[in-house]
Amino acid sequence: MDDEPDVHEVPELREHTDEVVATREQPRPRSTGGGSDGGRGLELKRVLLTDKIAPEAERILEAFGDIETMSIGTPSNSELLEMIPEFEAIIIRSPTKLTAPVIEKADRLKFIGRAGVGVDNIDLAAATKRGIVVMNSPRSNTISTAEHTLAMMLALAREIPRAHDSVMAGEWKRDSFKGVELAEKILGIVGLGRVGREVATRAVAFGMNVIAFDPIVNPAEAWVAGTKMVTWEELITYSDWITVHTPLDDSTKSLIGPTEIAAMKTGVFLVNVARGGIIDESALADALDGGHVSGVALDVFEKEPPAANHRLFKHPRVVFSPHLGGQTVDAQRRVATDVAESVGLALSRGEIRDAVNVINGQRPSVGTE
Ligand code: MLT
Repeated sequence: MDDEPDVHEVPELREHTDEVVATREQPRPRSTGGGSDGGRGLELKRVLLTDKIAPEAERILEAFGDIETMSIGTPSNSELLEMIPEFEAIIIRSPTKLTAPVIEKADRLKFIGRAGVGVDNIDLAAATKRGIVVMNSPRSNTISTAEHTLAMMLALAREIPRAHDSVMAGEWKRDSFKGVELAEKILGIVGLGRVGREVATRAVAFGMNVIAFDPIVNPAEAWVAGTKMVTWEELITYSDWITVHTPLDDSTKSLIGPTEIAAMKTGVFLVNVARGGIIDESALADALDGGHVSGVALDVFEKEPPAANHRLFKHPRVVFSPHLGGQTVDAQRRVATDVAESVGLALSRGEIRDAVNVINGQRPSVGTE
């Protein structure tokens, strides 16, 4: 992947930084008074919401009565280090990185809420070591992400972005955009979890033959989604399209690299709406250069945002979007609501749901503190 300084990053960070500073000049805009309830003797628990979480989250948290909130954009690492000691809980989306040094400074933190599914932006080991429960929102953006996967596949199959640009440029080049059909092609799904299954049912509706590889899914569940479970080698060898739907961890990083791509059919299409890095980007660029891969659709990148001169950007048979899988009005409202309820119940009532880490040998669950 390209390491050049990223020109996209500068205005984005500047904007967020301004927002954080502006918020801090008027500390605790929704506070009822510096951590207390202004006379009723109730100690308020403080929750920091970053990454512009939908406003429903604040309303839900404050309705608990013993919680005050502060909502900001995406803080820089140094801002986060400075702010984190003040809060009992934090709710984040994917841009905020809760690294080990940040968690080390989080002296009061009991709960981390992830408004989304992936927790690869949280150092889970560091949180677990400090007894901090991490909760995500596992169901809320499944449909949006599955729909986006199909949108990317169709856009790639019919070259919609390039055709659109061409019409906008005043051209009418019907012969330049000869797409391919999805129907009757073999779609290989890597990871048949919630999103993978929703992608499967939609792909079946498009007339695709769907196969899947997932080491922990029962073949009977795959059958319900209209999918046939196959081995890793079979998936790699037989698929015309491959889409990945796994978390990013040590076992899935560069899961698809040069060796796997070389074993695929010539003309294969590859799609990643899960996490950047599951498909090795330089292997993809090499395979597009060499013609072995016909097209690539990426919603996620190894580094987000990617460098402006990323190698993949010069290829014609590519479709990109800026990590939009869960980015619909519907999903964002749902993730904010779900995670705010989880964090509120945990902080206010000690009821824990959707925990992803194991504290003292046990996964926290409803009814445990
Ligand atoms: C998720 O992990 O839920 C999605 O990728 C969306 C996001 O990161 O916010």
